[in-house]
Amino acid sequence: MSTSSDPEASISPTELSATAIRPIPAPENLDERVVELGRRLFHEARLSRDGTISCASCHDLAQGGDDGRRVSIGVGGAKGERNAPTVLNSSLNFRQFWDGRAVTLEEQAGGPLIHPDEMGSTWSDVIATLQSDTSYVAEFRELWPDGVTQANVRLAIATFERSLLTPGGRFDRFLGGEKDALTPVEKEGYELFLEVGCITCHQGVNVGGNLHQRFGQASNFFVDRGGATVSDLGRYNVTNESTDAFKFKVPTLRNVARTAPYFHDGSVPTLEQAVRIMAKYQLGDDLEESEIEKIAAFLRTLDGPNQD
Ligand code: HEC
Ligand code: HEC
Repeated sequence: MSTSSDPEASISPTELSATAIRPIPAPENLDERVVELGRRLFHEARLSRDGTISCASCHDLAQGGDDGRRVSIGVGGAKGERNAPTVLNSSLNFRQFWDGRAVTLEEQAGGPLIHPDEMGSTWSDVIATLQSDTSYVAEFRELWPDGVTQANVRLAIATFERSLLTPGGRFDRFLGGEKDALTPVEKEGYELFLEVGCITCHQGVNVGGNLHQRFGQASNFFVDRGGATVSDLGRYNVTNESTDAFKFKVPTLRNVARTAPYFHDGSVPTLEQAVRIMAKYQLGDDLEESEIEKIAAFLRTLDGPNQD
């Protein structure tokens, strides 16, 4: 398809629609003491079976909130089945995990602690480890009368994650009226993103994170990639509904320049390749090289500064 001549002309109507991308808000109403406890727990390797892995091992906040690996590596070198998504802005997603199996961050936080390929622990070991550390016992007690409990551990980690928003990036400044925050090429990329239909799935404040959609709407990605696995069945593994096979949560594209490799299987190393695959398998569109480059340039403007 051809590139539109006046990128700004058609932006406003789409900005007003329900799917419109909106700027990320600043974190609000978080108890700083709970955030700080959650931060400490997030970086606490002693919570894993062998004391080597923390949440931050796979969600490095300085590196886009993920681990840069194709699939994650947990305790004892255990290889997971999926690529680690970013934890930045994860509170803006309607569900957690690629298949949306956790609804809240509190629910999600328990998963990796006891997953054999991640931290490989048990709740009783996690609680015992924290109980044996007088500074943790004091911090929990100060916040909650019941002290160190599973619910309070989940709440602290989830509250910390709610602080991990990245407002103020270039695209959000552009949305806020700073028209020079994007270069002409980036604006054309945004325009293409709207025109070719990426916005029908990657939408709202997190540019994704509010729908489940099949990977391979227009043609079969898994036949072409080969070797489909149980993990590739996505949401089907959660609901057992045949219509959910190969469906995944549409991921956020916020900070996507920092979260390579891409897709739930981590099979794609570059943003340009990911854009080409999306256009082909989701939209049945063979984009020109220059169009792919423009969309990728736009996606790189979705980067925002970490709050801490
Ligand atoms: C061994 C690596 C590893 C560790 C350790 C780990 N994670 Fe993850 N995390 C992953 C992977 C892989 C996924 C995606 C799994 C899936 O969707 O099936 C994930 C998913 C998530 C998500 C969902 C994000 C989204 O957009 O769906 C959040 C939030 C998260 N992890 C937080 C945490 C927290 C909190 C901890 C510590 C308690 C933790 N992780 C420990 C690898 C890890
Ligand atoms: C029909 C819905 C749909 C459309 C349209 C769509 N996507 Fe996606 N997108 C998805 C889903 C679902 C995934 C997750 C696929 C997976 O890994 O299983 C995804 C993943 C991605 C990723 C990888 C993100 C990551 O963190 O791994 C990028 C980049 C991306 N899409 C960009 C685009 C672009 C650019 C367009 C337009 C050319 C587009 N998408 C159109 C649904 C869609």
